[in-house]
Amino acid sequence: MSWSDELVSSDIEHMRQVLRGSQRLPRHVAAIMDGNGRWAELRSMPRFEGHRAGMESVRSVVKACSQVGVQYLTLYAFSIENWKRPAPEVRFLMSLLESYLKKELDELHENNVRIRTIGKTNALPRVVEKVLQKAIERTSGNDGLTLTLALSYGARWDIQRAMQVIALDVRRGKLSPEDLTESTISEYLQTSYMPDPDLIIRTSGEIRLSNFLLWEAAYAELFVTETLWPDFRDVDLYNALLDFTQRERRFGKTSAQLGAAAKTKPSTMERLRNALK
Ligand code: IPE
Ligand code: IPE
Ligand code: MG
Repeated sequence: MSWSDELVSSDIEHMRQVLRGSQRLPRHVAAIMDGNGRWAELRSMPRFEGHRAGMESVRSVVKACSQVGVQYLTLYAFSIENWKRPAPEVRFLMSLLESYLKKELDELHENNVRIRTIGKTNALPRVVEKVLQKAIERTSGNDGLTLTLALSYGARWDIQRAMQVIALDVRRGKLSPEDLTESTISEYLQTSYMPDPDLIIRTSGEIRLSNFLLWEAAYAELFVTETLWPDFRDVDLYNALLDFTQRERRFGKTSAQLGAAAKTKPSTMERLRNALK
């Protein structure tokens, strides 16, 4: 890390203030929380210790998103492919999820967080499904951060499920094939209540999506960090958000088309540097 970067990351309160006032904050941040196993292996610990430590990162990141006004946070907690892992690891992850929801629910609710889930959740153990349902119901009226847990989730699974429902609705005469647009497809996906992710963060240096939000990620900015998930905390999230605010999202257009107005305004990074002077 260079000295100037160190200065920026040392002052988390300033980062928070600048991000809070930024017009360029992502509305929807999604994270592929990877590297728990390697974190534990590096310390000669069993893999499950990495998962346990990763829960602290979840707490930190959820709070940090809420504090700067990110509206949607989607966490990839368990993929549909993760069922193929050894049974004791899967059992541990399920019990961790259950205890996270039980322990954190009051605080999440007090902080106006709305909990949702995407994925094949009927494949989860009954007790986990129940606490999840309770958390969703209890927080359904909240209008702060929407925290979506992707559990037993696979983007291809969701697309295939949506296609089946679309086909059934065509057969029932509810939908005509001519009316099928890109937004119709989005409406049939489980993610229909959220905007597409603006920023997808992946920890542990892997540069792939691993079946996460494939349709929705069409124009997401990707941020990959070598940091392992259990080491990823609020300051790392804020660094990712600041990096995002510096990016030019062109959506196929040219830079010139995007207009001079945005360029004459001081950037978030410049405002942060001024605030720190
Ligand atoms: C991410 O960490 C957590 C889950 C996929 C549930 P990993 O368990 O994949 O950790 P690595 O990739 O083996 O280090
Ligand atoms: C992706 O991580 C899924 C989650 C973070 C829940 P994996 O560790 O399962 O991904 P691959 O198998 O390395 O692509
Ligand atoms: Mg992994």
